[in-house]
Amino acid sequence: MMKWKQQIYGMKAYQPGKPIEEVKKEFGLDEVVKLASNENPYGFSPKVKAFLEKDSTNHAIYPDGYAQSLRTAVAKHLGVKETELLFGNGSDDLIAIVTRALLYPGVNTVMADPSFSQYSHNAVIEGAEVRKVPTKDGKHDLQAMLEAIDENTSIVWVCNPNNPTGTIVSDDELQNFLKQVPSEVLVVLDEAYFEYINAPEFKDTLHYVSEYPNVIIMRTFSKAYGLASFRVGYAYAQEDVIAKLDPVRGPFNNTVLSQKVAIVALEDQEFIQECRDKNEIGKNQFVEFCNKHGLNYYPSQTNFILFEVKADSDVVFQEMMKRGFIIRSGNALGTPGYIRVTFGTEEQNSKFLSLLEEVLTEQGVFA
Ligand SMILES: Cc1ncc(COP(=O)(O)O)c(C=O)c1O
Repeated sequence: MMKWKQQIYGMKAYQPGKPIEEVKKEFGLDEVVKLASNENPYGFSPKVKAFLEKDSTNHAIYPDGYAQSLRTAVAKHLGVKETELLFGNGSDDLIAIVTRALLYPGVNTVMADPSFSQYSHNAVIEGAEVRKVPTKDGKHDLQAMLEAIDENTSIVWVCNPNNPTGTIVSDDELQNFLKQVPSEVLVVLDEAYFEYINAPEFKDTLHYVSEYPNVIIMRTFSKAYGLASFRVGYAYAQEDVIAKLDPVRGPFNNTVLSQKVAIVALEDQEFIQECRDKNEIGKNQFVEFCNKHGLNYYPSQTNFILFEVKADSDVVFQEMMKRGFIIRSGNALGTPGYIRVTFGTEEQNSKFLSLLEEVLTEQGVFA
């Protein structure tokens, strides 16, 4: 008998959205659109495309583990010191690094429920206690999260905006929260969808890092920058925090090519702005649909929306898949009766919504 950690028994690997090729084969479809993983429907910047076409990277050589060039570019972009940054193989890697550095049996970690699954997943692997605090109207209940913190709490996760609900914590709420979190508890502000936020009550959070030694902000190139396959995320915190986390990082956790590509992508802020504008159009299409049909939805500050279907989410998921759209069933996200859909292009959204209308009529939801 091998000596597996007890908590590994019964754990499942991360369940990603179904791959397009698999769905094509299963249902004999020529075209399948994946609106399940909050990727950018417009791909990445044309500047990245041009770069990749002429790139001649030598892939036989190990990457720069310190990601110096990318570090310089991100530090400049944010207006922070290079030593205040940590790069990860996606922010998934950053979540694992932070967890590995701070969690072990006997300590606990506090997070919202539902929220991004990797916080609890990694915590369970490390044998820490997971304290899930129910969201209120899809929003973090920061007061209840404060109450869940005790002397054994090591990390509090604030997914802002929250996946899967898409809601934000306002600046006032965050300020009030940070003032009360004990200074020995690390507060992770996971801002994977930062670029899509347009609510005035959200204000840039970078200054909290200089004010609070226990705050770390995570962002990613996987969403608005459209580089999910390259796996680049970064964290910003005070130098001492980064210095503690850095030894926990894998030695070459970003590839040579991904580092180069992220630099090119960062330079094209016009592309990000265009994606942001188009995202708003998509959001409005879904909000109009929900309003027209009286379906509850959470106000989204991201590139996806979680809304009610008044039917079995798994059935809706399955019926939409047969029709060429992969989405997320709320059953898999802890929100039964709801589905989470990433905004596609305007045309994809229109097609999706008319097919959804058909499915929900078939299901007897609409007369
Ligand atoms: C809230 C949140 N954090 C982190 C991630 C991980 O992103 P990546 O590892 O691609 O940077 C995701 C991806 O869906 C997410 O939704």
